[in-house]
Amino acid sequence: MKTLLNLGIGLLAATSISAYAVTGPDSYELVQKGKYIATLGDCTACHTVPGKPLFSGGVAIETPFGELLGANITPDPATGIGRWNFEEFQNTMARGHARNGKQLYPAMPYAAYTKVTREDNMALWAYLRTIEPVHNEVETNQLPFPFNIRMSMRVWNWLNFTEGEFEPDAQKSEQWNRGAYLVQGLGHCGSCHTPKNLIGGDKSSETLKGGELQGWMAPNITGVAHVGLGDWSEDDIVQYLKTGANRYDIASGPMAEAVENSTQHWRDEDLMAVAVYLKDLDHEHDKPQPLAADEPAMTAGRGIYEDRCSGCHTPNGEGIPTLFPKLANAPLVNSREAVSMIRVVLAGNRAGTTDAAPTGPAMPSFAWNLSDENVADVLTYIRNSWGNAAPAVSASEVRKQRETLQDE
Ligand code: HEC
Ligand code: HEC
Ligand code: HEC
Repeated sequence: MKTLLNLGIGLLAATSISAYAVTGPDSYELVQKGKYIATLGDCTACHTVPGKPLFSGGVAIETPFGELLGANITPDPATGIGRWNFEEFQNTMARGHARNGKQLYPAMPYAAYTKVTREDNMALWAYLRTIEPVHNEVETNQLPFPFNIRMSMRVWNWLNFTEGEFEPDAQKSEQWNRGAYLVQGLGHCGSCHTPKNLIGGDKSSETLKGGELQGWMAPNITGVAHVGLGDWSEDDIVQYLKTGANRYDIASGPMAEAVENSTQHWRDEDLMAVAVYLKDLDHEHDKPQPLAADEPAMTAGRGIYEDRCSGCHTPNGEGIPTLFPKLANAPLVNSREAVSMIRVVLAGNRAGTTDAAPTGPAMPSFAWNLSDENVADVLTYIRNSWGNAAPAVSASEVRKQRETLQDE
């Protein structure tokens, strides 16, 4: 009888939260907790248009299949989620099923949020009930045919989605588990940092090993040396997520937004947990073998390097601190995808022309005097010399980038 009774009270508590604005002695703390969870989940990124009321929807989200808009998730009964109850919200976070059985698109990152505990979702729900209701009709589905058919997402889910709350690993510390919970769940870091298959699902064997977004590369953030965060200390990671910069890198583009909306507001102990978890991922990494120095692409590339590049980057790729970047044993150079490097060589880099350093060193553009083949060879050479090892670059990859740059 006792368990039944407890269950009854639990259900009662859940319904009272969902049916009315939150009241009672614990409500303030619950709502504060929920507010922090919304920050961890970065709900704002997709549900608040800058300058418009909180969570009133309408943010455009580009996907390879077309555009979606973030929904209005204020408690407005007509255009928001005012008529929902907690179970319907839980269903959305855990399965991507919205009210009345509507199947959401995975642009709403339920594939990650499914890891969030029911308890955390209750707090999040309590907080969402306290937001100012805003009347704003949003048609989220802007996709072209056939992607606009929600039924097609059932197939997607069947192929790509594994439902289930995060399960702690008893072999690991509490801190590690907290980091894993945040990275895999609320932080949805994999939605950018995990490579995707053709229909936009995660390649699960390559979790956090670097993904391509529209025009951006979200790098490998596992603790692996050579291509990932192997050289970064835990404090370096915390500093990057807290401030957007550290001694290795400055966050730009989508990551700058993630830092601004979300990670800069995370508690230090949560950032440290994330760092501990990331550093522990993929420690057993086989460094790939570099291509042999006498391969045709390597000898051709070497000639071009000595002629056109070594004057600045030095013959052994060591560079000159603060003037010419080091190419030897550098994560960017070793990354699996060469898109960023190809771009720099074709277009040059005008980063030197800031107010602080108006005539700072610049990387010249080689688009006009190196062929696609030349660029491929010199990059293949750099990517396989002085301790580097990475896949060869092909002339067709270079041609593709050249065409993209011409369109810009
Ligand atoms: C990366 C973008 C993104 C993030 C981050 C995000 N959402 Fe969403 N969300 C969407 C999109 C897009 C939709 C609409 C999907 C559709 O119509 O299929 C949506 C839909 C929803 C819905 C369903 C609304 C309805 O009327 O059907 C709820 C509830 C929701 N989101 C809550 C949240 C919460 C809570 C968070 C933070 C923990 C969050 N979302 C974070 C993109 C996002
Ligand atoms: C919306 C997409 C997106 C999300 C979500 C995202 N990132 Fe990133 N992240 C990026 C991009 C893009 C870069 C590269 C930024 C640049 O080039 O300056 C990046 C860079 C980083 C870097 C620097 C890596 C390096 O080698 O310089 C770290 C560390 C990082 N992200 C951690 C995280 C963590 C932890 C999360 C989850 C809490 C996360 N990111 C969520 C897109 C994202
Ligand atoms: C006149 C000096 C100069 C020459 C010649 C030069 N570079 Fe650069 N290179 C730079 C500078 C300066 C940067 C840094 C630009 C920035 O980030 O703003 C750079 C950046 C790069 C980067 C990006 C490195 C990183 O970690 O961000 C690559 C790759 C690169 N150069 C390759 C080459 C290749 C290949 C050649 C020859 C075809 C070459 N460079 C010739 C000065 C030069």
